[in-house]
Amino acid sequence: TILVLDFGSQYTHLITRRLRELNVFSEMLPCTQKLSELKFVPKGIILSGGPYSVYEEGSPHVDPAVFDLNVPILGICYGMQELAYRLNPDNVIAGTHREYGHAMLKARSIDNHVDRLFEGIEESMRVWMSHGDKLAKLPDGFHTVATSDNSEYAAIGHQSKPIYGLQFHPEVTHTQNGTALLKNFAVGICGCKQEWTMQKFLEEAIAQIRHTVGEKGQVLAAISGGVDSTVAAKLMKEAIGSRFWAVLVNNGVMRLNECDQVKKDLTEALGINLTVVEASDRFLDGLKGIDDPEKKRKFIGGKFIDIFEEEAVKIEEAAANDPAKAGKIEFFMQGTLYPDVIESLSFKGPSATIKTHHNVGGLPARMANGQGLKLIEPLRSLYKDEVRALGRALGIREELVMRHPFPGPGIAVRILGEVTPEKVEIARQADHIFISEIRKAGIYDQISQAYAAVDPSRAVGVMGDKRVYGYIIVLRAVTTTDFMTAEAYNFPWDFLQRVMNRIVNEVHGVCRVVYDVTSKPPGTIELE
Ligand code: XMP
Repeated sequence: TILVLDFGSQYTHLITRRLRELNVFSEMLPCTQKLSELKFVPKGIILSGGPYSVYEEGSPHVDPAVFDLNVPILGICYGMQELAYRLNPDNVIAGTHREYGHAMLKARSIDNHVDRLFEGIEESMRVWMSHGDKLAKLPDGFHTVATSDNSEYAAIGHQSKPIYGLQFHPEVTHTQNGTALLKNFAVGICGCKQEWTMQKFLEEAIAQIRHTVGEKGQVLAAISGGVDSTVAAKLMKEAIGSRFWAVLVNNGVMRLNECDQVKKDLTEALGINLTVVEASDRFLDGLKGIDDPEKKRKFIGGKFIDIFEEEAVKIEEAAANDPAKAGKIEFFMQGTLYPDVIESLSFKGPSATIKTHHNVGGLPARMANGQGLKLIEPLRSLYKDEVRALGRALGIREELVMRHPFPGPGIAVRILGEVTPEKVEIARQADHIFISEIRKAGIYDQISQAYAAVDPSRAVGVMGDKRVYGYIIVLRAVTTTDFMTAEAYNFPWDFLQRVMNRIVNEVHGVCRVVYDVTSKPPGTIELE
């Protein structure tokens, strides 16, 4: 494992990503991590960039024990300044101007060989700089490995110890050979083997789950049918077989035939016995008269926990009466992913409170606390694309692995204003047509997320020589890598025409179709 200590740079998590792409396992922790409390022994440590100045009062500093671990260290940007400052505070000064963007780097020969960090990398390369401070002088014992026009010390290395500093960011794609540099550090210098594969993760995850749950423990899980809970459920099933209870709550705002489909997929394809709790009426009744988006979200979240708590009690009673399943439900499984964990681990500044992670599966902590259940989160070290790879390694079919995300509050946040059964039905029908056409056109996997929403303002139209007055359907389709920013998908015109034709003809109560071209920001992916 390479330990990445985060000083708050927006790029930090890319370091872990790049390393994992090299099949080297990497974990990120806040820069304030006490090294004596680490649960693993890292083979190398990377200090990330950050928005602070090392010499400012209150700026974050790494545990001095970092130098006692005797493992290679790479400081990037703030991380390099931190290394230099630690050795002598006079080493770092404010630069006369900020350097932001591309710079050309020249690797310099030292004693007739380019330093190991740059092994196999051409002399001159484009790198991405983003800094205000710089080194005033070389820390004692270091030599210059590379320079740029604005940075005399663009890369430095210790003469006898494996300690390196880079002023630029090797983790961003704008830096040429950045991955090769990280590989030289992790593999060449730290001696990590490139063995971190999904198959290996799978074997370790199963062993870990068995160890955590023990011989008798029972696990309860909320299933949404999305890729995260599906993959996590399959993993649990492989690990502990019948001591695993999967529950799907039908909240009345799921897509067309969704509950039946998810039950079929989990039972037939994955051998998981899914309990579907029918609660549509309780949700739809409660949603009456609520038109504020946040109130809708809160209501759905709250009701969901109520129902889940009731179900947990029922399951436990059934388990108590079944000798084959005797044993208390002790664990609650969630499909939490690494980006959410990172949210809570990122260093947010000396004074800011560190955010606690929100629950991907939508199951709030109250549930786990209320039931005395312990959380089990088998995917918490994985990114979404890694979860998909794990799904494939578990033999889950491609269509399930590549499903677009669907929000917990479902169609309710895709109906502007009050949710009524009529509008839910219209949204379902229109969405089904849109997604079917997307699949038929073979572009489902090019789009990150797509859906049809209902705008309850009504418009006038003419159909069969008659005046009609109906709802407006808003089509939304985006491409994104991380769901933080997104672009509207560029459909061919005839595709949009075809979808429009089908929706106005087949969905009763609709007379117009519009395509939402808003990017995120300023829009969000969901309408509410
Ligand atoms: P926004 O609308 O914030 O959505 O741009 C970003 C991604 O998050 C999903 N989303 C949710 N997922 N519960 C969820 O499980 C929610 O309350 C929720 N709200 C938004 C959205 O579908 C998109 O993928």
